[in-house]
Amino acid sequence: MGADKRLDRQIGSKFDYGPRRIDSDIPDLSASWSAKADDYTTDITPGYRVGETRQAGSFDDLVGLFNDRYEKLSRVLIQESGKHPSGTIKQIVNNWTDYTRSPATILGIVMNIRRTKSGGRMVEIEDTSETTITVFVRADDPAAGTLLHDDVVAVTGTFESKTGEMFWVNEVQYPDILPGHMNKGGSEFDPVSIGFISDLHYGSKYFKEKEWNKMMKWLNSSAETAKNLKYLVIPGDGVDGIGIYPGHENNLIETDVYKQYSTLASMLDELPDHITPILSPGNHDAVRPAEPQPVLEADIQQDFNSAIHTGNPGRVNLSGLDVLTYHGKGIDDMVPLMNHVTYERPAEAMKEMLRKRHMAPLWGERNALSPEEEDQMVIMDKPDIFVTGHTHAHQVEWYRGVPLIVSSTFQGLTDFMKMLGNKPKIGYLTAYNIQNRQSRVIKFAEDGVK
Ligand SMILES: [Fe+2]
Ligand SMILES: [Fe+2]
Repeated sequence: MGADKRLDRQIGSKFDYGPRRIDSDIPDLSASWSAKADDYTTDITPGYRVGETRQAGSFDDLVGLFNDRYEKLSRVLIQESGKHPSGTIKQIVNNWTDYTRSPATILGIVMNIRRTKSGGRMVEIEDTSETTITVFVRADDPAAGTLLHDDVVAVTGTFESKTGEMFWVNEVQYPDILPGHMNKGGSEFDPVSIGFISDLHYGSKYFKEKEWNKMMKWLNSSAETAKNLKYLVIPGDGVDGIGIYPGHENNLIETDVYKQYSTLASMLDELPDHITPILSPGNHDAVRPAEPQPVLEADIQQDFNSAIHTGNPGRVNLSGLDVLTYHGKGIDDMVPLMNHVTYERPAEAMKEMLRKRHMAPLWGERNALSPEEEDQMVIMDKPDIFVTGHTHAHQVEWYRGVPLIVSSTFQGLTDFMKMLGNKPKIGYLTAYNIQNRQSRVIKFAEDGVK
C-alpha cells in the first residue's frame, strides 16, 4: 500500500475534466471514483460489424454509397434538425420565382466548392433529382471555412429576384448534434470508468517500454483510479505492422507481424482481472488499410485471452454507454483543409465529424475508403463517448454533450513525425467515469520524453 501511494505521487495526475453541466442526481461525485470495478459486472455488447460487405468498387457501387449517405444524413437533417426541404433541387430550380422573398430549404450533397475573391464560397449542391444548384455562402458564415466536398447539408436562402441565377444562403445547417444534448450517465449507471490509450506501435524501435511498464504497474496497484477502471479502449495501431511505408523495416525491432500481435496479447494479459481491453485496428494493423476496416482476422484474435475486438470505426456498448471508437485517419484529410484543425488539436476534427455526422466525408483523398453496401462512416446514432487515436496527441474535450477523447500514444518521436513537425504526447491514460461523467488523466512519461 505504501509503495502504491509512492507510485501515485510519482505519476503526474491531472483531474477535473468534466462537462459544463453535470446531472445533479449524484450527490457525491467523488464516490463514483472510489468504487471498485471488481464489484460490478462486465457488460459488453459489440455493435454492428464494418468493412465486410463485398463490393466490386464499380461506379454503381460508388453511386449507391453516396445515395446511402445522402439518404441517411437527410433523415438526420429532417428528423433531428427539423430541416424539411422545400422540394427536390429540380422542383426548387423550376419554381425559383416562389423563393425570391420567402426562403427555400435545399438538402443536398456538396459536389464542388470555389472560393470567391470576397472570401465567400460558391458551392455546388446535388440531390437525387440529378439536378445541381450553385449557391453562395458568405465569407462571414461559420460554414465557409468548414464545408468539404461530399458533405450533406441543408441550405436555406433566396434566389436573386431578377434572373434567379444566384441563390444567396442565409443559413447552412449540418446534420449536427443539437445544443441541448447530453450523453448517458448519472446514478442509473455503474460507478466504473473506461480507460483510453492508443497507438502502442509494439514492434517499433520507438515503442516506449519504460512508460508502458510504469502504466502496467500502476494499473495493477491499489491506486483509486486504477481500481475503478473496468475497460481499456485502444483505438488502433496496437502494433507497428510491417511494410507500412518505404524503409519501415529499419524502424522495427520485431519484423514478424504475428509475433508483434502475440507479444501485444501477452502484454495485455498483464492487465488486472477487473480490466477488459477493447481493441480496434488502425492503419498500422494487419487488415486492409481502406476504411471501414474489418476486425482483425481470427488467427490473430486467438492470441488474445480476454480482449474484445471491433472493426474501425467500431461501436461497442460498455456498461450501458455506446462508445464510438475510430482510429482517426480521416483527420489527415481535414488538417490541410481547415485552419482550426491541427495535429496538436485533433479534437477539433472530431467536432467537425460530429457536426457533419461523418468520420471521413472526403472521397478520394489521402485516406482510402472502401465502398460498402452502406456508408458505415456515417454517425447515425449519437455516441455516448467518441474516441480517436492516430495523431499521437492527447486531448479531452466535450462537444454538445459528447466527451471527445484523443487517446495518447506509447510510441516516441519517429523520423516521419519529426519531418511533419509533430510532437507526440506520450504515455497519457484517460479515465472516464461513466457515472459522474468526469475524466482523470494520468501521465506515465517524464516531462520532455520524446
Ligand atoms: Fe499511430
Ligand atoms: Fe495511425
